[in-house]
Amino acid sequence: MAVAAQAAGDKHNLNAVRQAYYDKISKYELAPLWEVLRNVVTKEPKSRCVPHLWKYDEVKRLMLEAGDVITAEEAERRVLVLENPALRGQTRITNSLFAGIQLINPGEIAEAHKHVSSAIRFVLDGEGAYTAVEGEKANMSPGDFILTPNWAPHDHGNPSKKPMLWLDVLDMPTVNHFETSFMEHFDGKMQNTTRQDGDSLEFYGSGVLPDGAPIELKRSPVINYTYARTRPILERLKKAGDIDKRHGARVRYANPITGSWALPTMGAHLALLPNGFKGEPYRSTDGTIFVCVEGRGATKVEDQTFEWGPNDVFVVPPWKRYSHTASKESVLFSISDRPMQEALGIWREGN
Ligand SMILES: [Fe+2]
Repeated sequence: MAVAAQAAGDKHNLNAVRQAYYDKISKYELAPLWEVLRNVVTKEPKSRCVPHLWKYDEVKRLMLEAGDVITAEEAERRVLVLENPALRGQTRITNSLFAGIQLINPGEIAEAHKHVSSAIRFVLDGEGAYTAVEGEKANMSPGDFILTPNWAPHDHGNPSKKPMLWLDVLDMPTVNHFETSFMEHFDGKMQNTTRQDGDSLEFYGSGVLPDGAPIELKRSPVINYTYARTRPILERLKKAGDIDKRHGARVRYANPITGSWALPTMGAHLALLPNGFKGEPYRSTDGTIFVCVEGRGATKVEDQTFEWGPNDVFVVPPWKRYSHTASKESVLFSISDRPMQEALGIWREGN
């Protein structure tokens, strides 16, 4: 008994000595690593994000209400942020990426600007709005994958009669992590158009390149990877039997100059899951945002199941095991920060 009391007293004394030391060094902006080491160098990735699914019918209804609350001009960009439920108030869907749903009503213009953050648009709903990037005006149709790379001037407009909605994904949280954000507005609302719609895809995405094209380019020169061009390729992969047991028949959006990812910070895929597909489990260190483009199915993330239909968006956090099933032929778009992780040599995958 006396020995135990002695030990408890020693421990108490030791804790008091340590705390006094921590208080002393704290005044010099110093802290003991040994108290936090296990939290900062974890055995496995520990994500702060949680998986979540946004139902498109709910998002669309609420997004259309925003059209009555604020004009596109006042908002600069009328976007509802898809905030990870575990990261509320932090304007992000994963630790590294931002995602939002943008609405442009008939007749509206989102004025020209440029910024360091790279962005992609994945078109969900509507027909006939445009995104102009570096002088090319891309008409937007559902399933189109549109790039606005780092510092590329861009503006949006909707001369059609219907509201247009799309998914925005930006690397903004990463740019802000490095504290390297710049942005500029232009004098005119819209940039001058100097190219025809589809020029960049024809020039760079057809197996030939304009004479004198660079042999190194960090980002793809293609502005719009149209669904009309990409969807039939999935069909061909399926017919050829090229169906991955985890991902389905899948293509990667590539930079045709280097074969690398379309953007240095964000990497995207389009996958066809055949009717009745039962995917094997997969996990990777890149938290991934998915959009159901067509079809119906479910994705199991650890012990939660998310049922999805057209235009639903869901997020899988880093290193969470997931598997897809499709109750009819389905197409899934996905995007993550994988290119950044690969560039740093820290990306991993597993099952
Ligand atoms: Fe922008």
